Amino acid sequence: MLPPVPAPPPDARSQEAVVLDVRTCGSDGVVLAVEPLAPPPPIRASRFYMLRREDGLSPFIPRPYSIYRQFGSRLEFLVKVMGKGSRALAASRRGERLRLIGPLGNGWPTLDGEGAPWVMLAGGVGLAPFPMGVEQALAGMDGAAPCPADRLHLFFGAANAGQLYDLDRMVDLGVEVRTATMDGSQGRRGTVLDLLNDAWAEGRLPAEVRLLACGPERMLEAVERLADERGLEAHLSLETLMGCGVGICNGCPVPTRPEGALGHWPNAKCCVEGPVFRTADVRLAGSH
Ligand SMILES: Cc1cc2nc3c(=O)[nH]c(=O)nc-3n(C[C@H](O)[C@H](O)[C@H](O)COP(=O)(O)OP(=O)(O)OC[C@H]3O[C@@H](n4cnc5c(N)ncnc54)[C@H](O)[C@@H]3O)c2cc1C
Ligand code: FES
Repeated sequence: MLPPVPAPPPDARSQEAVVLDVRTCGSDGVVLAVEPLAPPPPIRASRFYMLRREDGLSPFIPRPYSIYRQFGSRLEFLVKVMGKGSRALAASRRGERLRLIGPLGNGWPTLDGEGAPWVMLAGGVGLAPFPMGVEQALAGMDGAAPCPADRLHLFFGAANAGQLYDLDRMVDLGVEVRTATMDGSQGRRGTVLDLLNDAWAEGRLPAEVRLLACGPERMLEAVERLADERGLEAHLSLETLMGCGVGICNGCPVPTRPEGALGHWPNAKCCVEGPVFRTADVRLAGSH
């Protein structure tokens, strides 16, 4: 018998939200702040919403965005302008209304302070699920004791300094933040994995760390390979294309590992079983 299709989370809603403000962020992004008409519940970091304007400027299919910050009923999204959907969202004006579907997906695991340190690897706009992840870990998640700040490390990489979004605010989070850029315009020249290898080489991190990563596909594939080689626990927040966001369209398949917890079927649905997956359960590198 086939396993049942997972249902969207019970707190998922299609609703309208009022745009509060839109501020420029980095060289090609904005932070879009909205207030849903129905107050949102406290949202776990790395869950997401599907967003769309309803005045014809957005494509028909809404686009998925991680929740970036939540301040009560104020929700913020970090939007990198890529194509028609993100351009329309970035052009929103105060007082306009958007369609929101969410919160969706699973979010980061419990970021406890008991085991190996957590190393958060953010690539470009893959930063989005991390600030709240840091805050929730520091506050204590799911009844776990607060994670001490010295057990959280945010390694933030991008093509150039302009894509190190909100870097000043990240430094204010109170955990170690290190940066790398491919063109050397800020921080170390190289990638987030170079930052991690530096930390190991300089003895600043133990051999056993727990990885959380979000960023471009090639970066996540490299994190997967590293986790496999070193036997590390690693959780990836994936950004697949998505059609519906709620498990209906099959537009977001992620190949699974037969031996992993999702191995009963060749693909998992990123929107309902993710977007966060353990590398032990899915296979990115070499899957296409
Ligand atoms: C769970 C989830 C969370 C996300 N969170 C964020 C976020 O916080 N901030 C953010 O800026 N983006 C995020 N994304 C990616 C975002 O959804 C896409 O950038 C957006 O859909 C692009 O829509 P568009 O109409 O502007 O571009 P399109 O016109 O659809 O595409 C423009 C270009 O971008 C490429 N593209 C489109 N979608 C993706 C994608 N998912 N990954 C890689 N390339 C893509 C296309 O191949 C094309 O080359 C997230 C995606 C997922 C699945
Ligand atoms: S986006 Fe439709 S099933 Fe995942």
